[in-house]
Amino acid sequence: MKSSITNSQDFPLRHELDKADELLDTDPELASEHFEKILRRSKNRSPRALYGKARAMDILADKNRSNKFLEKAISTYEAVIDLGESVPVDLYLRAGYRCVERMQFRGWSNKAIPLLKTMIKRLPHQLDLLNKLGTQFLLIGQKKAASEMFEAVLLQQPLNNYAAKHLGFILKTSGKNEDLPRGVDLLLQGVQGDPDPPEGKFYYHLGEGLRRLGREEEANMMYHSGVEKGLFLSFWQRSLYNVDHLKGQPVWTKEETGESQGLNLLEKYWESVRDEALALLKDNQQGFEPEAENLQDKGDWKQFELYRQGRRLSGCDKAPNTCALIEQIPSIRTNKRGQVKFSVMYPGTHVHPHSGPTNCRLRAHLGLKVPKGDLKIRVAKETLEWREGKIFVFDDSFDHEVWHNGDAERVVLIVDLWHPELDEETKKYLPAI
Ligand code: OGA
Ligand code: MN
Repeated sequence: MKSSITNSQDFPLRHELDKADELLDTDPELASEHFEKILRRSKNRSPRALYGKARAMDILADKNRSNKFLEKAISTYEAVIDLGESVPVDLYLRAGYRCVERMQFRGWSNKAIPLLKTMIKRLPHQLDLLNKLGTQFLLIGQKKAASEMFEAVLLQQPLNNYAAKHLGFILKTSGKNEDLPRGVDLLLQGVQGDPDPPEGKFYYHLGEGLRRLGREEEANMMYHSGVEKGLFLSFWQRSLYNVDHLKGQPVWTKEETGESQGLNLLEKYWESVRDEALALLKDNQQGFEPEAENLQDKGDWKQFELYRQGRRLSGCDKAPNTCALIEQIPSIRTNKRGQVKFSVMYPGTHVHPHSGPTNCRLRAHLGLKVPKGDLKIRVAKETLEWREGKIFVFDDSFDHEVWHNGDAERVVLIVDLWHPELDEETKKYLPAI
């Protein structure tokens, strides 16, 4: 078994190397000493000894939770790659893949890119390397470079699941309508017969993409299949960052949220909230940003953020009365899985059906300016309409869709409450969204 990692130079040393390998799990320090001895003799050119030393450092890094060992492990794996052609392919790949993993763990994703490029130069047909490089580009937001990698893989192997689903995901979420058909086809191809564990984000965007293309039945099948695979909470509730066993219901009464006091306060002073929102709009829509998640089908929809992830933003300087009210409602102010924002929507807007990211929040809309006409939001199978000075509450992890066919802009204040069944301890440890 070890022949695939042993080159001609290591061959005479194989028994010594095997012995040091055996020590790795029980006594990594001693193993490391053995490997170093071999390295000194081989003038640092024994691939297996160098790899063994990296493994020892790697194990010690975990054991001692030590960045010093971790960094030493990384640089030693890199040294294996630097040996180039003399390293047997199996060993070369093992060292390289582990190095990328450890770089990521250390927060050094940017270092993984040149490493993978070096490896690809030696092994251009090793498609996993190209996929890994594509993934690293995605991690740092370089979608174009990532796409080029996945395209290159598909050129060599048109049925590669990994490249197909990742390229499909990039195209589906690009925001360009012309990318959608190919994005959906690739996603479909990527998840079918995929050997990797299924991931919610691919099923979510595949279903959404199919629906946008009018392929409703296939979309529904994807959603059902996502529920079967445990990726979605239910057919209608498709958030991906969830806490188990929270009550899931599309529409809530104020009382059911456990925060009717805070919500009543907002309703009581709604006119001062409205005045601030309208003044900002009048002032050249100052601070209102176009919705950027590619949710709009057509129209014009902008938002002005006041709080994000439980933090007060500088936007509050321009809406001091609204924020003074929010400060009095801790379950909104501290919601690190939510936002507070003004939302303005112009006539002729349609928002595609979508689900929010998490089941940990409930979303309240306070109507500030509601024109006449056909304006509504559908949440799962229920439809709601805004009224000035009135709040409704829904769970935005449920599929929802918005239409504005009225005769003037519609303005609301959106606030996110913690789900009432979450306890303080859980909220404290949940990562922000
Ligand atoms: C939402 C949403 C659209 C709007 O609040 O999650 O999609 O009407 N709202 O502002
Ligand atoms: Mn929404």
